[in-house]
Amino acid sequence: MAGLGLILLGAPGSGKGTQAARLAGAYALQHLSTGDLLRDEVRRGTPLGKEAKGFMDAGGLVPDALILGMVRARLEEGGEKGFLLDGFPRTLGQAEALEGMLDGLGRKLDHALFLDVPEDELVARLALRRSCPGCGRVYHLKVSPPAADGLCDACGQGLIQRLDDTEAVVRERLKVYAASTHPLVEHYEKRKLLRHIIALGGIETIQVQLRAILGEPGA
Ligand code: AP5
Ligand code: MG
Repeated sequence: MAGLGLILLGAPGSGKGTQAARLAGAYALQHLSTGDLLRDEVRRGTPLGKEAKGFMDAGGLVPDALILGMVRARLEEGGEKGFLLDGFPRTLGQAEALEGMLDGLGRKLDHALFLDVPEDELVARLALRRSCPGCGRVYHLKVSPPAADGLCDACGQGLIQRLDDTEAVVRERLKVYAASTHPLVEHYEKRKLLRHIIALGGIETIQVQLRAILGEPGA
């Protein structure tokens, strides 16, 4: 039987990556973060990375033509494994394209998990975020700091501040989210797939709420 099909929906800084890493381990899901995949393409200097970089650094969206091929290839590789989409879809066009891809693969969506966080909290979280350029693990200098100052617990690489986490770019990302991505909440509400989570409070508290929706792993 095919595994769960999940979308994590939410603004920049709402905790998609943080929660996805925990859910993917517990439910044996393929974690597909389009942001992480794009950053990897940029780091490797691929043609896709070179095209995407300018949009990302400015806080805008990377064109669908680049995103959709990348996602389709990863979903095909995943086979029957459950999937957890983080940062995709981000527009109504991407949501419609996803429906077509899943139909073609004989797969379906079970839940669109919406992490709802007020804007002032998003800005505060992103200012103190640090990320591992090697494995993508995410930290927060106060809430979830690394064990050794400035180094990733998982792979030992030096942590960085993402280029798009400067205040001006964060403001632009929030604007783009409100205009292009937030309408997906209504889209999935209409399809009865939306699960609304008030994602304030500790990381583990939010994880418990998500697991209550998904049920016990393996059940
Ligand atoms: P992407 O990487 O997807 O960025 P994003 O959506 O802006 O989201 P973030 O990764 O910034 O936040 P998050 O929700 O994952 O939060 P996190 O868990 O890190 O996309 C980057 C760019 O790529 C886009 O701007 C665009 O250019 C391009 N792109 C990507 N996908 C695309 C697509 N589909 N189409 C077009 N373009 C695309 O948490 C944030 C911080 O808060 C961390 O420090 C964390 O430790 C902390 N934190 C987490 N939970 C809590 C909590 N409960 N309490 C306190 N702190 C917390
Ligand atoms: Mg993320």
